[in-house]
Amino acid sequence: MPAITTSVITRKGGVGKTTLTHHIGTGLARRGKRILLIDLDTQSNLSILCIGHDPYHQLVANGTPTIRTAFDSALQGHRCDPRELILKGRVNAAKGRIYNNVDLILAHKKIGDMSNSLAAWRPDTTEHSHDGSARQELSRLSVLKRLIDQVQQDYDFILFDCPADLNLITRNALIASNFYLVPITPEYLPLVGLNEIRNDIETLNRKYWGLLTYLGFPESFTPTRFAGLVFNRINLHNGGPKQLHQHAIDLMRTQLPKGVFENYLINGDAIPHAAYDHLPVWSSTVYNANKQIDAMTNITQEFMLRVTKEGSL
Ligand SMILES: Nc1ncnc2c1ncn2[C@@H]1O[C@H](COP(=O)(O)OP(=O)(O)OP(=O)(O)O)[C@@H](O)[C@H]1O
Ligand SMILES: [Mg+2]
Repeated sequence: MPAITTSVITRKGGVGKTTLTHHIGTGLARRGKRILLIDLDTQSNLSILCIGHDPYHQLVANGTPTIRTAFDSALQGHRCDPRELILKGRVNAAKGRIYNNVDLILAHKKIGDMSNSLAAWRPDTTEHSHDGSARQELSRLSVLKRLIDQVQQDYDFILFDCPADLNLITRNALIASNFYLVPITPEYLPLVGLNEIRNDIETLNRKYWGLLTYLGFPESFTPTRFAGLVFNRINLHNGGPKQLHQHAIDLMRTQLPKGVFENYLINGDAIPHAAYDHLPVWSSTVYNANKQIDAMTNITQEFMLRVTKEGSL
């Protein structure tokens, strides 16, 4: 079975994309799944969370390949072997313990520049023909897809942590993904923003399908599907979300009946506390950590059901 690939995206910064990618990835690993995490954000937060601040900067300073290498190779017309980019046996599970089933491709602070380079890229010499331009557009959108297609059989799940921007790097991740997952906080409820993302992804799906059809292989198209919306930073009162937050959840549920996860992530100190030590929350012992651990366990379980159950959305 090829890996199920998912992009974690929003246009809004700081709502939990990296936190969810990190915890769904490591949560699935705790269930014995083989995981590849790919950090696409210039901030490199996922890379740092996974392996630590100093080790990350040392690796990059020593010239360790990052996701940028994949785009550099493509721009230079070379094929990139993902196995040369993948870090194995480095992702922290707890103090003094690493995951042997979570691999990582590091981000690079210049990955954002690649978006502009990709846009200007003219990979095909027959660019003046219609075929040439369609091939160029396809090449620009499929760098990550061509990369991960080579390791699809090595993993159960591949997760992309995307920047808060639908740039060409994020579009590459979406084209390479079976699903996209959207975190949201109750204070930030612009359904317009969510609809924009969904419309943009529909447009991207149509464009990609159009290119493949034009070039004669429409059968290779699979659209990127919505895996759902996960509420984050919910505050509790009397055992449930406080009224304002419950109201936000209910509002979204009426707009997107099957689109909102049943489970939500509560606000709490355990996640940022664990993040400070570059660890996931799973083995945290800080006060009330079990509440965030339970919430993330349930979200991970629901994610797995949603992306493995055909036609649920
Ligand atoms: N449920 C939570 N409770 C407390 N803190 C949280 C929670 N979720 C995320 N955080 C903290 O909020 C900050 C932002 O979260 P995160 O980095 O996951 O957001 P992001 O969407 O990836 O941000 P960016 O757009 O900058 O990449 C982090 O410091 C994280 O530890
Ligand atoms: Mg992030």
